[in-house]
Amino acid sequence: MDFKDLVMQRYAARAYTGERIPEEKIEALLELVRWAPSGLNLQPWRIKVVEDAPTKGALMEAAFGQPQVGACSHLLVLCADSDLAGRIGELEQLMRQAGSPEKERRRVIALARDMVSRMAPAQALAFAQQQVFLALAHALLGARALGFDGCPMTGFDGARVAARLGLPPRLVPTAMCPLGFGTDRPALRVRFPREELCL
Ligand SMILES: Cc1cc2nc3c(=O)[nH]c(=O)nc-3n(C[C@H](O)[C@H](O)[C@H](O)COP(=O)(O)O)c2cc1C
Repeated sequence: MDFKDLVMQRYAARAYTGERIPEEKIEALLELVRWAPSGLNLQPWRIKVVEDAPTKGALMEAAFGQPQVGACSHLLVLCADSDLAGRIGELEQLMRQAGSPEKERRRVIALARDMVSRMAPAQALAFAQQQVFLALAHALLGARALGFDGCPMTGFDGARVAARLGLPPRLVPTAMCPLGFGTDRPALRVRFPREELCL
């Protein structure tokens, strides 16, 4: 599908057919998410894929009863990994294993260590969360490209979500993305005019 068609066809789907998304399509989507860009290439995200009804029900409560969380086929809970120093260590190992040129690896890792050393913990979390939204964008457009739909969501109580999923403190639920075959495509989507976009 042409990228413009993809962008125009994507919408925030909050009602679904009830049909289960095949596992290989979820795998294909996660692969698209994995290739999202991120600052310093730290990829400071982890995703919980929730499919079972009791957990979706509990997370729907944590999302103030928003029905798409309970009704979806699969729910992605996108978490920010706030341990950037740990992530740098992991990236260094990854680059080593992947055979990245040593000079490039040293440059990237030194830059990352320098930048992260200047961040207070709250800034590190904010940085990680910014990257999560790029992963979310890949999930939303990727879902449409693969023939199903998603809904971007930040309307939830992150602490309740973390508790229900038993997440370690370094992982902070930042966005959710219920997935399914949407049945509520709006007749009209609105955006501010093009003339307002650029200053
Ligand atoms: C970061 C973000 C958070 C959002 N949170 C919610 C949410 O909690 N619940 C919801 O129903 N929609 C949520 N939305 C969906 C928006 O309402 C929707 O994207 C917007 O109205 C534009 O509609 P469209 O996506 O169909 O073009 C969110 C969207 C974004 C980008």
